[in-house]
Amino acid sequence: MVSPDKIVRQLNPPAADVRLVCFDKVDSTNDVAKRFVEEGVCDRLVVISNCQSSGRGRFERGWISPRGGLYASLITKPVLSPSRLPLMGMMLGLSAVSAIYSLSAIDVHLKWPNDIVVDDKKVGGILNEAVTEGDQGVAVILGIGINVNLLPNDYPEDLRKSITTILLETGEESSLEDLAALLLNEVYGRIREVETRQTYESILSEYKSVCNTLDRRVRVEQTDGIFEGTALNIDEYGALIVETEEGEVKLSTGDVVHLNLKT
Ligand code: BTN
Repeated sequence: MVSPDKIVRQLNPPAADVRLVCFDKVDSTNDVAKRFVEEGVCDRLVVISNCQSSGRGRFERGWISPRGGLYASLITKPVLSPSRLPLMGMMLGLSAVSAIYSLSAIDVHLKWPNDIVVDDKKVGGILNEAVTEGDQGVAVILGIGINVNLLPNDYPEDLRKSITTILLETGEESSLEDLAALLLNEVYGRIREVETRQTYESILSEYKSVCNTLDRRVRVEQTDGIFEGTALNIDEYGALIVETEEGEVKLSTGDVVHLNLKT
């Protein structure tokens, strides 16, 4: 089981005082985190589990969560306004990119909005959920899954082509505790920065340098239709700006398909 002590020993301020709760198996760490919020915990608690029986992805998809991956959900107070919630997910994405690079020197990027990818294969994903009371944001739950010590056979056949794992990329097993500690140090550092400087601009500019969707042809699949265009920019709310033949379209949520290689 992931050892909380091994993680805590490696935490630096401002992550040093977070509370970690580790489990062997849960339904979903985001759901466990939600239950903590319902009990009144609104900040600085991290739920980690060795595996999940009902891991959740974006848009009600499942998240296959066998032992060997890192599955964590951070409860944090909203440090940005509700309209900028996507930027909080992006903070976690950027933190994952830095943590994975420090651990294993793999060149990872973010596919808009928050798929953690090696080339175009997914090595991790992020699910951010707001807990509100009336129109007040009470807490934000930032969930992350990273494929660490896993191999293609650990996944259903239809997923094998589109995913990768840190083990596959490096040929070596990694310490889940080292990765978790690197991630928490990175993310709480960014949260502190946004909180003290009251600006999200550094997040946005870092995001643009790590996002491999920009300057690419993309296909956007929405319930009301499919269109193609070129991904031009990210706005200050985290929306993707796509240039199409009919003009610019802003996507605040959804997924895109990359159509060409990054040049
Ligand atoms: C996605 O790319 O669709 C997001 C996947 C997020 C998965 C993580 S695993 C830990 C946390 N608990 C969940 O049920 N989901 C997130």
